[in-house]
Amino acid sequence: MERECRFGIEGMSVHVPRHCIDLGTLAAARGIDPAKYYEGLGGRRMAVVSPDEDPVTMAAEAARRLVERHDVDRSEIGMVVVGSETGVDAAKPIASYVHGLIGLSPQCRTFDTQHACYGATAALQLAAGWCIQGNGSRRKAIVIATDIARYEVGSAGEPTQGAGAIAMLVSCEPRVVAFDRHDEAVFTQDVMDFWRPHYRSTAMVDGRHSLDCYLRALEHTWDAYLGSSGLRFEDFRHLLFHVPFPKMAHKAFHRLHELEAARRGVAMPPAEAMFDTLTRPSLWANVEVGNIYSGSLYLALAGLLEQGDAAIEGARLGLFSYGSGCCAEFYSVLVGPDATAWRGRIGVAEALAGRVEVDYPTYVEMRTRSEGMAGDGSFREPVHPGNGRVRFLGVRDHRRVYQAHISPGGDQLRSCTSRACAGAGSG
Ligand code: COA
Repeated sequence: MERECRFGIEGMSVHVPRHCIDLGTLAAARGIDPAKYYEGLGGRRMAVVSPDEDPVTMAAEAARRLVERHDVDRSEIGMVVVGSETGVDAAKPIASYVHGLIGLSPQCRTFDTQHACYGATAALQLAAGWCIQGNGSRRKAIVIATDIARYEVGSAGEPTQGAGAIAMLVSCEPRVVAFDRHDEAVFTQDVMDFWRPHYRSTAMVDGRHSLDCYLRALEHTWDAYLGSSGLRFEDFRHLLFHVPFPKMAHKAFHRLHELEAARRGVAMPPAEAMFDTLTRPSLWANVEVGNIYSGSLYLALAGLLEQGDAAIEGARLGLFSYGSGCCAEFYSVLVGPDATAWRGRIGVAEALAGRVEVDYPTYVEMRTRSEGMAGDGSFREPVHPGNGRVRFLGVRDHRRVYQAHISPGGDQLRSCTSRACAGAGSG
């Protein structure tokens, strides 16, 4: 007989690149009123990746911190799933690289999931189902969201860029958040709102259309979730949304407020005051980092859990995940009872505190150098290096080469993924 198993997230860790640019600096370079970016889009800064950072290094950094800070026994990890829309190879998944770089057991499934910004939610649901099927066998999975949001220079999407990774330990010991067991509330529609053809390094977006698709998917999944769960608006202590830019979460909250007011048929408390209580506390990190695609919703969750008030313990949170194309899901989680024991291990404020702000010419140079790392023979002298213990050195003989300083108890060099490592940094 199946043993009762609560499931959810046991631990969470975040990696944010070392460099960032103030959106006011970008606005000045574009001749645009900075208020458009600060207020119109709701951002303050955006993360800028170093040439030695990519979706693999960010994922491995987040996973390394997860393993080290949450005292994870590497031999217990039976699955690594990476949700990403900025994969580095058409065949080899990011999860394989991460598995090797952080030194996990061979008895482990590794694969990536892709559906724009929905990929990590798909991975979470899949991993949770796998844990439950374990029938009490203490299975644990690592789910990682990792992405670099990059648009054309000078495009409308450029000020919404960002980069980062979130690693989550999924298990039947959901100390951080447990998934509420309710029916699925999902929505799919074949739309062209945001996409990135294989031959491009930057995303394409039909901006206004994407906002409409997002809000339509929100309405469908919200209605479906309330209908199937029997929960009501007031049952959620916080409402969290996918955050392509912070103002989008604001628009999403206002849409739910309108729906709720129509449903009740009586006046509601003012939307802005409710937004300040229910959603704004989740956005402070997204305001600083920008869009991290599949991880954006989980950065909001990490930010809320790390800095939410003490009453967060036991609270029900509603989460809306949206991936362009599109697939969306609304679900809810219950915060664990002992936030003081785990919230210090998430590491969002810590990652942001050590950042270096760059000027506009440096942003352009870093971007050019990062894109130049994609081709064969791309080894370069390290310029503006990141601060992770995992570094991307370049591509040699069509192989991506990484260097990791990771060990269970210290800081020594753990692995190089190919012979070409010996030539690192030699130009
Ligand atoms: N001061 C304050 N606000 C200003 C302003 C100023 N000087 N100038 C403009 N704004 C506001 C606008 O009113 C608008 O707010 P609103 O949406 O509440 O009306 C906001 O800033 C954006 O202005 P807009 O003219 O619409 O900007 P844009 O044409 O440059 O594009 C996006 C905005 C969001 C469409 C664009 O950044 C984009 O495509 N982003 C990516 C979208 C995405 O990630 N989609 C993925 C799926 S979710």
